[in-house]
Amino acid sequence: MARGNRPKVTIIGAGMVGGAVAQWLALQDYADIVLVDIVEGMPQGKALDLMEAGPVLGFDTRVTGTNSYEETAGSDLVVITSGIARKPGMSRDDLLKTNMGIVRSVTKQVAAGSPNAVILVVSNPLDAMCHVAFAQAGFPRERVIGMAGVLDSARFSTFIAEALDVSVEDVSAFVLGGHGDTMVPLSRFSTVSGIPLPELLPAEQIRAIETRTANGGAEIVGLLKTGSAYTAPGASVVAMVDSILLDKRRILPSSVLLKGEYGIDGLYVGVPVVLGAGGMKKIVELDLMAAEQAALNKSAGAVKELVEAMDRIDAEAAAAQ
Ligand code: NAI
Ligand code: 2OP
Repeated sequence: MARGNRPKVTIIGAGMVGGAVAQWLALQDYADIVLVDIVEGMPQGKALDLMEAGPVLGFDTRVTGTNSYEETAGSDLVVITSGIARKPGMSRDDLLKTNMGIVRSVTKQVAAGSPNAVILVVSNPLDAMCHVAFAQAGFPRERVIGMAGVLDSARFSTFIAEALDVSVEDVSAFVLGGHGDTMVPLSRFSTVSGIPLPELLPAEQIRAIETRTANGGAEIVGLLKTGSAYTAPGASVVAMVDSILLDKRRILPSSVLLKGEYGIDGLYVGVPVVLGAGGMKKIVELDLMAAEQAALNKSAGAVKELVEAMDRIDAEAAAAQ
């Protein structure tokens, strides 16, 4: 249970990303954490191990590991990272089917005990899993948000700083769209100490960085071989948690349900959002150039295809009963 007035954050899925979120968040020392997983003993072990880092690093974050949902009741914020990665021989629809089942089931269980929580979805395919969590939770769209843009922008920033040989501190990079290879890195809105990126790097080099950003997840998988990125994803989730629970009102690229903004209706797509108490405070609408809007529409189209595939999977399951 959270002590005093500390907010309570539940992390569902205590694997690589869930563990990283817990670790980065514990260091912030303002919230207490409940780690949930289906693997017996694992969330409990990770929780105890993390608590034991407190005396060394000087944090008092209480971390509870569990295989059930009782301890999650009354959470202020829930991070969903549960799911599986695509295995050899598995089709995209197979992965979609498995992860939509997992996200549906955990959302149902956690939303029942934490009806006022903000849900941050991390499980992939990200934008599609946001649709699942939104439908299952029955929360307003302001309280069901996906994390991807912060990570994609962080990758973009890393590569820009590297190319210019400058500090990442001064880089502010922006990525729109769904989390996938159709994401839209926006160089025009990316700056280094306020200087627009196109003033600093040749167009060809910018294009190469944009392509590397769009393939950023695959690049890490190719190197790790046994899993996907977790350290930067964990830090990216915590940036969103901080902005929401500390009501910082940062503008962070987040996957939210669009209702006509950017000319897109009824789809979760990554756009700039003000995040503060209660989740999404506002969608920031930008005047996009024709090519940027076309790229965003293409990215939204890829999300639509996944949503339609999920409808098909549900229809087939209903017909088989
Ligand atoms: P992982 O395999 O290390 O962890 C997933 C955990 O979920 C496992 O511990 C598993 O036991 C647990 N789990 C499975 N079913 C569950 C259930 N019904 N209830 C509770 N726990 C359950 O995977 P990892 O690396 O942590 O990735 C997690 C997800 O996050 C994946 O879908 C991955 O693709 C996605 N991801 C998304 C990113 C983004 O930018 N949105 C970035 C990085 C990863
Ligand atoms: C990533 O971008 C796998 O979505 C994950 O690293």
